Amino acid sequence: MTGPPARRRTVLATGAMSALLLGCSEYGDENDGGENGGGEVQEPAPQAPSGDRSGSGDGGGGRDGGGAPGGKELTRTADVPVGGGKVFKDEKVVVTQPEKGDFKAFSAVCTHAGCVVARVSDGTIDCTCHGSRFRVADGSVAGGPAPKPLPARRITVEGDSISLA
Ligand code: FES
Repeated sequence: MTGPPARRRTVLATGAMSALLLGCSEYGDENDGGENGGGEVQEPAPQAPSGDRSGSGDGGGGRDGGGAPGGKELTRTADVPVGGGKVFKDEKVVVTQPEKGDFKAFSAVCTHAGCVVARVSDGTIDCTCHGSRFRVADGSVAGGPAPKPLPARRITVEGDSISLA
């Protein structure tokens, strides 16, 4: 029972890798099928678990891998505190609510050295890697070594649902 789904998940997780392999050697099965002899797309499957683990938890969920444009709910308005915000590490986005009913979103990737910001507290979005802080109202730098504001991200607020636009 677990066989086929596991294989499918693995192929999805290594989609980019497979695409690279396929792109490099469309018909070059000699290179591709060296070990398994099959020369099929499933060949990267054994590599997936180790690659996935070392690659950080980002793709761990293996959701859709489609980048999920509009429509996918990120959170509920009630989950974003007024004057604060919430970090979504998987999506690398932080949603804030500087004033009641006013929702903003920014990239959660710190402009200093690329860490994902850790939390929102006391009106700032905080990166704990080296101490940068960004204002919840506009993502501007409030302190620390970050050279630039967090870039804005587009969200859609519909009723009590917030989605990435
Ligand atoms: Fe955020 Fe250095 S990466 S402060």
